[in-house]
Amino acid sequence: MSGLGSLTEGMTRVESYEDADMILKASTTRSGRAESRQFMGPVLPQLDGPDHLKRRQMEARCFSAAALAEWEREGLRASIDSFFDELFDGKDDSEPIRADLPSSTLRLLTRVGARIAGIDDVDTEQRCEELLRIVSQHINGATVEWRMVSEAERNQIRDDAKSLRVSFGTHFLEPSEFRRQQIVNKLQLEPTDSTDLPLDILTSLLMHRQPEWDPEFITQEILQYLGASIGTSARATTQVIHELFTWFGGHPEDRVLLADPEFLRGAINESLRLHLVVPALLRTTVAAVSLPSGITLQAGERFVVDISRANRDVTVYGEDADSFDPRRGNRPGIVRAAAFAFAAGPHTCIGKRLAVGGGPSIGGIGPSAGTIVTIVRDFLDVGIAPDPAGSPMRDPLSEYDEFISYPVSFRRPSVQR
Ligand code: HEM
Repeated sequence: MSGLGSLTEGMTRVESYEDADMILKASTTRSGRAESRQFMGPVLPQLDGPDHLKRRQMEARCFSAAALAEWEREGLRASIDSFFDELFDGKDDSEPIRADLPSSTLRLLTRVGARIAGIDDVDTEQRCEELLRIVSQHINGATVEWRMVSEAERNQIRDDAKSLRVSFGTHFLEPSEFRRQQIVNKLQLEPTDSTDLPLDILTSLLMHRQPEWDPEFITQEILQYLGASIGTSARATTQVIHELFTWFGGHPEDRVLLADPEFLRGAINESLRLHLVVPALLRTTVAAVSLPSGITLQAGERFVVDISRANRDVTVYGEDADSFDPRRGNRPGIVRAAAFAFAAGPHTCIGKRLAVGGGPSIGGIGPSAGTIVTIVRDFLDVGIAPDPAGSPMRDPLSEYDEFISYPVSFRRPSVQR
């Protein structure tokens, strides 16, 4: 359960599924993370109304069915293959290869996130570590309001993160932006079929660059995407693998379903329902509203949607809502398998289908597999198992539900993957 700390003290808590559903989708609800606004800048989750819609549409080209299919064929495959090449480099198949799951998934998902954001050349371990250090510091700055530290320490964390933006610009953003700007300029001079344009966020921004944008804005939006995609997906991957290890212990007959993407997607959604990647959702109302439970929110009131509780609402998810069941999403009446793990309403996670796949076939292009589904299946394919020599550790001081260490072993496949 969530211990939401001092940030939400005195705020009305919305805790039931029905209330959360209504208020997150209401047209009078606005984003509510005022503390991080100055640090983050006018990035997508900080916008509301027409500005928010316009930016979402600008970036939506990266998440269309065609874009996701291309991404899974090209970008994701290349990132996973180079991750495995490094993991297995110089090892033979006689011994299990030991690794730490949270740091391995972070390294892999840094490559993946860099491609989606539009940052090139994150192809060596050193570049990956360098980018990860910058992004982790950025996330610390962007979420510092959740930490139980003094105001002076909060300012220090934000200042440290801001100072790394210079290094991010020089070593990562500027070379990637230069390459993409050449392509966009060429296209604007000689308009042709735009299918050669990279399907990433940076290219989308350069295509629509506005003279009024602050010089810092592209840096902020790209860092926001890196932050939103890497840590969330890495945490979710570690959690579901842990849940599956436990599940297979009690249900060995389900091991045959390891290659079934629908079973894996069900497991991932269920794990996300139980283990959130954000402590809660903060919002503000612009008009008074009464919720189905009888709670009234006043105009201008900031409140917290405690999605950890809403996601375990027994009236929707059943009396066993606190436990993990990979088939829960198939039960009648459950329309949202991952509950509010990806939020709901206008700020619903834009990367949801990219992360977990599924959805309808559009224009003959089938539902995407999903980045996390693909990674989990590939990890299971190379025999990922808990390492009996170590024990997993959670961070007792974090508001986030996450493992900080999880020793595992992989087996090098005896034939080329
Ligand atoms: C397991 C994976 C993920 C989870 C559980 C997750 C969860 C969430 C949640 C809860 C929000 C709403 C935050 C709020 O309103 O305060 C959100 C928003 C967002 N997410 Fe994700 N996310 C995931 C992966 C991704 C990926 C892969 C990307 C990008 C490639 C991404 C990009 C975003 C963006 C840009 C927003 C802001 C959307 C808006 O305000 O319109 N996320 N995500």
